[in-house]
Amino acid sequence: MAANRTSIHGQWSSRWIFVLAATGSAVGLGNIWRFPYITAEHGGGAFVLIYLVCIILVGLPIMMSEIMLGRRGRRSPIHAMEVLAEEEGRSRHWRLVGVLGVFAGFFILTFYSIVAGWTLAYILRTVSGVFNGASAQETQDIFNALVSDPERLLAWHTIFMIMTVSVVSRGVKQGLEQAVRYLMPALFVLLLFLVGYSATTSGFSEAVSYLFKPDFSQIGPSTVLVALGQAFFSLSLGMGAIMTYGSYLSERASIPGTTAYIGVMDTGVALLAGLAIFPIMFSFGLQPEEGGPGLIFMILPIAFGQMSYGSILAFIFFTLLMFAAWTSALSILEPITAWLVEKTGYTRMKAAICSGFVAWLLGLGSLLSLNLWSEVKLFGMTFFSLMEHLSVNIMLPVGGLLISVFAAWCMSRSSSFAELKLSNNAYLAWKVAAMFIAPAGVILILLQEVFGFLG
Ligand code: TRP
Repeated sequence: MAANRTSIHGQWSSRWIFVLAATGSAVGLGNIWRFPYITAEHGGGAFVLIYLVCIILVGLPIMMSEIMLGRRGRRSPIHAMEVLAEEEGRSRHWRLVGVLGVFAGFFILTFYSIVAGWTLAYILRTVSGVFNGASAQETQDIFNALVSDPERLLAWHTIFMIMTVSVVSRGVKQGLEQAVRYLMPALFVLLLFLVGYSATTSGFSEAVSYLFKPDFSQIGPSTVLVALGQAFFSLSLGMGAIMTYGSYLSERASIPGTTAYIGVMDTGVALLAGLAIFPIMFSFGLQPEEGGPGLIFMILPIAFGQMSYGSILAFIFFTLLMFAAWTSALSILEPITAWLVEKTGYTRMKAAICSGFVAWLLGLGSLLSLNLWSEVKLFGMTFFSLMEHLSVNIMLPVGGLLISVFAAWCMSRSSSFAELKLSNNAYLAWKVAAMFIAPAGVILILLQEVFGFLG
């Protein structure tokens, strides 16, 4: 029996709109900005392999669980967990999963909005033609000039936050999915084009083996944690974003089908981004490990600067990347805003402005940690990297763990079976993954991390 609730925030007009919105959420800076630089920091192929295993064994079952909980609860994560826990006769404390998600969302937005701001700044730079024929040193200088200027960063951070708030305040339904419908495929095509260009460079075969030939000597205990965190981050899991989107999904849509589509798109974009970037680095004799968070901003402009019509392509690329970041940021702010609306009865506009303002304020910490506060360290990390590490590597996996434990252990078989509508065998596979594999994976990896700290 399906639970006959409806969401006060409305419903997607079709299953495809949901898939587009969820893909828009999943495909973002995580795929194009974070995946390449994290892969480079962890030695390439072996990391990619572990990442793919994490996506399949841990990410996808948890994504199904998140959509299921959202659709059944029909509320923002904190309230959905409350309602479902009550319905299944479990502790009300399960609402803490949603609370953790709110914090994780704010933490993520602190650095997400800053990096999205870089994308905005780069759109302007491509128009000015500064990258034409630029050397690796020059593109590096351009990037460093940007991040060391707090005022510029502040302007872009503010603009990006206003963009995000303005869409969330209107309700997601009318706004961006209409754009996403064309922009996501366009981004995909452009990435393919860039991969095509990279394939002609001398570094291509080296890059392919760097990405796809695992060198297991590169793996340390933290590699697995980071790969898992990246899987959560890239699929938008563990903080209730997908749960919230699921709460607007029609009863009739197939959860496993939509999950598969989102997973394939998301992973495809990340791998294409890797295939676009690493060949260029190798052909210019650059060391991947040295890029850090600025990697794509320093590397891709070199390639654009060498091509005819490079400025135009660069303009299109950074514009599309900005849209990808935008549709993702919406999904981070949406659960918090929906919760405020439910909790306080604020209008959507007021709730979006309040949550956006808090995110903007916290973002100032990340912004300043790139320049004026670059020497201020907590646990050996700047504010920017602390927020990134805490949210991505700790909070999202813990959130995901709790979500899958609730979905697989605390919900009755009849509830989850009714929502997922799988064949018996497929249901069993989901159950095994969500009951054992995903939780065990997350727990083992977190324990490693803790013992790593102690040791
Ligand atoms: N998945 C997005 C990306 O890859 C980021 C994102 C959007 C996200 N919503 C999220 C990450 C919710 C974690 C949780 O860029």
